[in-house]
Order: sequence, then structure tokens, then C-alpha cells
Amino acid sequence: MKNKLILAIDGPAAAGKSTVAKLVAKKLNITYIDTGAMYRAFTLFVMQKGIDPQHQSACEALIPQVKILLAPTGEVYLNGIDVSKDIRDPKVSAQVSYIASYKAIRLALVDLQRHMAGNQSVVMDGRDIGTYVLPEANIKIFQIASVETRAVRRYEENLSKGIACTLESVEEDLRHRDYIDSHRDFAPLKPANDSILIDTSFMSVQEVVERILEIVHKKVGLIHA
Ligand code: DC
Repeated sequence: MKNKLILAIDGPAAAGKSTVAKLVAKKLNITYIDTGAMYRAFTLFVMQKGIDPQHQSACEALIPQVKILLAPTGEVYLNGIDVSKDIRDPKVSAQVSYIASYKAIRLALVDLQRHMAGNQSVVMDGRDIGTYVLPEANIKIFQIASVETRAVRRYEENLSKGIACTLESVEEDLRHRDYIDSHRDFAPLKPANDSILIDTSFMSVQEVVERILEIVHKKVGLIHA
């Protein structure tokens, strides 16, 4: 496809990336790819197998058994089963950063992510999209918010989905995950040099979406010029 648009949205846990990315993709009528969901699905499989998520080689040995599919309608399938709700369980959230720090697992999932992006325009959200997965992205957003704001947002989201948790446990989980995600050796969480920082601490979802669309429209003008 000529003039394809690749929009990368990276940032720490619960900064509102997926909510915003979904809305932006809908507005632009292009595909949304949630890469965090893929690490979560892998983690769920590890847990279902009764393997310790901190046992790297045992987790990596499962790679050939894991088939992950993101449906265009948003559902996440693990070996043919819809696990969209299960992967949001706080038990999965608490372990996923270990799985996401294993290089062989990252390489397998990055392969899939690049394949999914293929020859189409996409909005992809994650931690390393602008730095590693799709460094050729036309637009790179690094979306942040204070940890307190992120904890309140994730806590309220969990409650609305009927997921039991406390505000303290959510904040603790976010701090823990951010630490592991940004300190791993391979493709850690960090802004790309050419990324645009958006601090959403005091912005509504709609404001963030509009800001990104503005950036896209300016850039698309250039892409099509
Ligand atoms: O965005 P999320 O909270 O659903 O992501 C779950 C975990 O997966 C997160 O702790 C970090 C990891 N992740 C990653 O390492 N690289 C990505 N591209 C996406 C997510």
C-alpha cells in the first residue's frame, strides 16, 4: 500500500494507551493492534500450564505451543479460545512483566506483530513499538501520566469490569511492572528519540484523541504531499 500510516503509541502501564489507540484507529478507519494483550495471553498460558513465570527457560520452551490471534473485533484468542477477559485478571498483570522480559518470547511476538502490521495502516500500542517493533513508524507517541492518576484509572476500570482489587494493590502492581519493563536488557520501555510526549495526567480521553488526530493530520498532509 502506498502512503501507509504507522502510528506507534508507547508508554507505561495504564497510561490510557489502548483506550486512546482504539478510538484513534476507529476515527482513521485503520487497524488497531494491542501488543500488551499478546504478552498477557502468553502469560496466561504459562500460568495455565502451572509453570513459574520467573522460570525463563521453562517459559521459553512453551513458544511452539502458543498460538495468539487478535480478532479485528478486538477479542484475543489463545489456541482458539477467547481469553479477552482472563488476560486482564490482576494475577496475569502481576506476572506479565517477567514473561515480557524474555528475549525469545519477545522475538516470537515481535515477529507476529510485524507480520500483523504487514502492508496496512495501523495504530499499534505497547512499550517498544517506536524503538524496536516498527522504528519506521511515521508518528511515535509516548503517552505518560503520573502513577497516582494511572492507578485510579486502572482501579476504576477494573471495578467496572467486575475485577476485584484495591487501589493500593493496583498502584503497587503498576510501579512494579514499570520498573521491570524499563529495566530489562532487551527492548525496554523508553521513548524513541523522535517520539512526541503526551502527559495525559490532566487530559480527558477525548482531548488526547484530538491531540493525536491533530498530529496525524499534520503528518498525513506531509506523507501525501
Ligand atoms: O499494555 P499492557 O499493560 O496490557 O501490557 C502488559 C505487559 O506487557 C506490560 O507489563 C509490559 C509488556 N509489554 C511489553 O513489554 N512490550 C509491549 N510491546 C507491550 C507490552
